[in-house]
Amino acid sequence: MNQKIFAANWKLFKTPQETRDFFQAWNRAYTPKNLEKIVFFPPATSLEATSEMLKSSQCEFGSQNCYFEGKGAFTGETSASVVKALSGKWILLGHSERRTLFAETDELIQKKLRFVQDQGLVPMLCIGETMQERGDMQIEQVLRRQLSEGLKLADSARDLAIAYEPVWAIGTGKVATPEMVEEAHVIVRRILGELKFSTPVQILYGGSVKPDNAKTMINLLNVDGFLVGGASLEVSSFLEIVG
Ligand code: PGA
Repeated sequence: MNQKIFAANWKLFKTPQETRDFFQAWNRAYTPKNLEKIVFFPPATSLEATSEMLKSSQCEFGSQNCYFEGKGAFTGETSASVVKALSGKWILLGHSERRTLFAETDELIQKKLRFVQDQGLVPMLCIGETMQERGDMQIEQVLRRQLSEGLKLADSARDLAIAYEPVWAIGTGKVATPEMVEEAHVIVRRILGELKFSTPVQILYGGSVKPDNAKTMINLLNVDGFLVGGASLEVSSFLEIVG
């Protein structure tokens, strides 16, 4: 696929003011290119500031999570309808921090994913194995489970992206080798084919992506972009990754 997606996962960093400061500098420094899409995932409390600052930009944004209902008695949840009302396009789902720290199951993620698609938003589903699972040669099994369960209710004709993020590479500085990334992405693509996803699904790599390792990895055949955590918090390093 020719188009690359560069997505920034800010996790629980940046106040609304820090978000505005970031975009003031970003909007000055970034020149949009054909065949390149930039997506920001700020914390929920900075969605409105992001929406304001990206009003006349081609860069897209969305939230790091949402519930499978748009409104109601769901204290503390994030609403996909609000993301839509703010002109956001994306929702990140199933990040390993959501799965491990907040006990999100494949079953919950599949409901959220369907709801996101029904809202006309694009889900970016995160999947990936732990170090233990890699050691036990369970990579394919884990990816197959996360994809077939996570996408169980999905509409295969609608847009969707996958972020392959080996859990052991997230925030650790231990980046997967290009061979590991390519191998996993080929597996993901094969499973998506088996699950009959007709529209082309972009597969991003995430886990300690930095300016130096991004250069090699972006040219891998099956890498359609990156989901970047730590290195997306500064304009300069994210810009370097985007190239
Ligand atoms: P990292 O985070 O780039 O800081 O490893 C990636 C992610 O969690 O999406």
